[in-house]
Amino acid sequence: MGVGEAKLVDTTTELAGMTLRNPVLTASGTFGYGTEFKAFMDLRKIGGFVAKSLTLEPRFGNPPPRIGEVRAGMLNAISLENVGVDAFIADKLPEIPEGVPVVASLFGTEIAAYAEVAKRLGGVPKVAGLEVNASCPHVKSGGIEFGQDPRLLAELVRTVRAVTDAPLLVKLSPNVTSIAEMARVCEGEGADGISLINAVQAMDVDVKTRRPVLKNVLGGFSGPAILPIALRMVWQACQAVKISVCGIGGIMEPADAVKFLLCGASAVQVGTANYVNPMASAEVAAGIEQYARDHGFARTADLTGALDLS
Ligand SMILES: Cc1cc2nc3c(=O)[nH]c(=O)nc-3n(C[C@H](O)[C@H](O)[C@H](O)COP(=O)(O)O)c2cc1C
Repeated sequence: MGVGEAKLVDTTTELAGMTLRNPVLTASGTFGYGTEFKAFMDLRKIGGFVAKSLTLEPRFGNPPPRIGEVRAGMLNAISLENVGVDAFIADKLPEIPEGVPVVASLFGTEIAAYAEVAKRLGGVPKVAGLEVNASCPHVKSGGIEFGQDPRLLAELVRTVRAVTDAPLLVKLSPNVTSIAEMARVCEGEGADGISLINAVQAMDVDVKTRRPVLKNVLGGFSGPAILPIALRMVWQACQAVKISVCGIGGIMEPADAVKFLLCGASAVQVGTANYVNPMASAEVAAGIEQYARDHGFARTADLTGALDLS
């Protein structure tokens, strides 16, 4: 190797049966349908992106205000707003450049609706895999999230697994007592991987108006403040299962992502950071590669689980 020549690092990543060019994806709901970010970055600089969660029919979501800024993060109560699975396939996917793996996220208020969305996405070109968003309230159970009840979660994963052979990630809610139990349920029902965490249930109050900041009162808290919570949950999930784990929560810079890999995640997703810097995910991907090079790792995949507990 000549003077000044950087040693090449292999960034190829295996996640839930998908082969990605690097371990960084963008998190659902924070990167639109990918098309919105084409002007800012080459989408081929990241491993792939997770599109906004899709329902069977188009939805408007909650009334505003549905975003709030808080110290070290943000609150959102966007809820189910999306174009619907058919419009996603017909209008959004063709706009995505070839060679950019798309993970389609699915949502539903009942299990049959999730399964129908998964069926419609079956065999669609550019869709590399599916991510079941288990943070949706189940209407028949009075609004408890699928991901908060192990029996509901098991039925959901089993039903979706039965209708698709696509790589299947299940995105877990952090609003649970035992994340290890939920991770085991997903593994037991045939998921290829789990993604965690979704936003942490939270609220804020405007003392000038004495109103809740969000019209919906409750929302999801995301951004840098949740990183240590997410890291703890990813660590616990990695101890509990053998399927791949994708770490999400508060990643703002490459070192944050490296922490998730060291704790056992095979890949990560960048969320709120996209609002601060639309190139954040590409910068995180480049930074992980640099970290591997600087620390003598020939492959970024070797960072997975390399936490030194001595
Ligand atoms: C505005 C907004 C919308 C979101 N919409 C979705 C969604 O549709 N589906 C989903 O699974 N997660 C959604 N999330 C959660 C993120 O994908 C991610 O799990 C969470 O924000 C934590 O990561 P972060 O701290 O990097 O943002 C959304 C988050 C935000 C901030």
